[in-house]
Amino acid sequence: MTRAAEVGAAIPFHVPDLGADERQAVLEVLESGWLTTGPRVAELEAAMQEALGIGHAVAVNSATAALHLALEAMGIGPDDEVIVPTYTFASSGEVVRYLGARPRLADVDARTLNVTAATIEPHLRPNTRAIQVVHIGGWTADMAPILALAAERGIRVVEDAAHAIPASRDGRHAATFGDAGALSFYATKTVTTGEGGMLVTDDAAIAERARSMRLHGISRDAWKRYTAEGSWFYEIEDVGFKYNLTDLAAALGIVQLRRAEETRLAREAVAGRYHAAFADADLLDLLDLPDWPTPGMVHAWHLYPIRLRLERLAVDRAQVIEELKARGIGTSVHFIPLHLHPYYRRTYGYKPTDLPVATREYEREISLPIYPSLEPAAVDRIVEALAGILRSSRAAAS
Ligand SMILES: Cc1ncc(COP(=O)(O)O)c(C=O)c1O
Repeated sequence: MTRAAEVGAAIPFHVPDLGADERQAVLEVLESGWLTTGPRVAELEAAMQEALGIGHAVAVNSATAALHLALEAMGIGPDDEVIVPTYTFASSGEVVRYLGARPRLADVDARTLNVTAATIEPHLRPNTRAIQVVHIGGWTADMAPILALAAERGIRVVEDAAHAIPASRDGRHAATFGDAGALSFYATKTVTTGEGGMLVTDDAAIAERARSMRLHGISRDAWKRYTAEGSWFYEIEDVGFKYNLTDLAAALGIVQLRRAEETRLAREAVAGRYHAAFADADLLDLLDLPDWPTPGMVHAWHLYPIRLRLERLAVDRAQVIEELKARGIGTSVHFIPLHLHPYYRRTYGYKPTDLPVATREYEREISLPIYPSLEPAAVDRIVEALAGILRSSRAAAS
């Protein structure tokens, strides 16, 4: 047991899992003299293709960039609509707006917080061109019915797998079901490079367009122009973006990807301990735990989202978060649904009741710490703290 767990020092919401191999990999890049996009980026792309069993991987500097490039390569424009889960981060909707298209928000399944074919269908319009699916917390969405719905109507599917490396369903990796997938290597993610991301696809045309557009829309291997084998000559084919990943970041990513299953197992052990401790603490009438993966599912366990049973409590979610904070326990909320944000309310007139499942689940969700270095004693302390807060408020409620 560390001192942190013993004496009640702060338990942060997230601590990245970086070791000697990551340090060494970054040092080697510093010493190589080549800092930006180069051989390490190519190596990370090849490693991701292999890990996911997919044809193309295009490294970029965020998942937001990957989502933008995927939709851009699909030719989404101002007259189009894209279905976006409301239960997601800002990126999912904003990339649709970058292209002048309309994000049409869909509600989610109450248990998994993922969209389903049933929650998507009411939002299909004649000009719907694409559907985004977010695998929330690392739980791979039920893709087969969504793909069937999209195929019937000739609609493209983009998976936001920002939470889902490594996650799979029936032997198939998240991010490889649809036309394109976006991965995030942001600081808190399961494979991190600080900031970074990747677009993965089996569609050669999408990959080729994204490769050019990630670096100013100039010819394909523009990054090589300062190498011995490169050429000074380049041509601007289109107005692109500055979305390339650096070799410094990629070097971290290569090690992190190699360790992805090891760190996933460590997070799964944390989730297992939470599940057991909450059951032992007799708290299951006051909160709902995330579902445990069924056979055939590999859960990335990026998040451990609990849901309070507010009808049995005299406190609200914000008070519980404050009480945990007072006890040194960091938490987060995933997510404030897009339809509750001022931009979406103002621009499209969304009301909380328009997407009622997301509104309700958001109001009672708390994401607890989950990362490899979170010790069993720290998990127990978090569960005990919650037990204390919730039991006293149950007593007050009844
Ligand atoms: C579901 C989801 N999609 C996309 C993103 C954006 O990732 P990035 O920061 O790499 O752009 C995030 C980041 O938190 C996310 O949670």
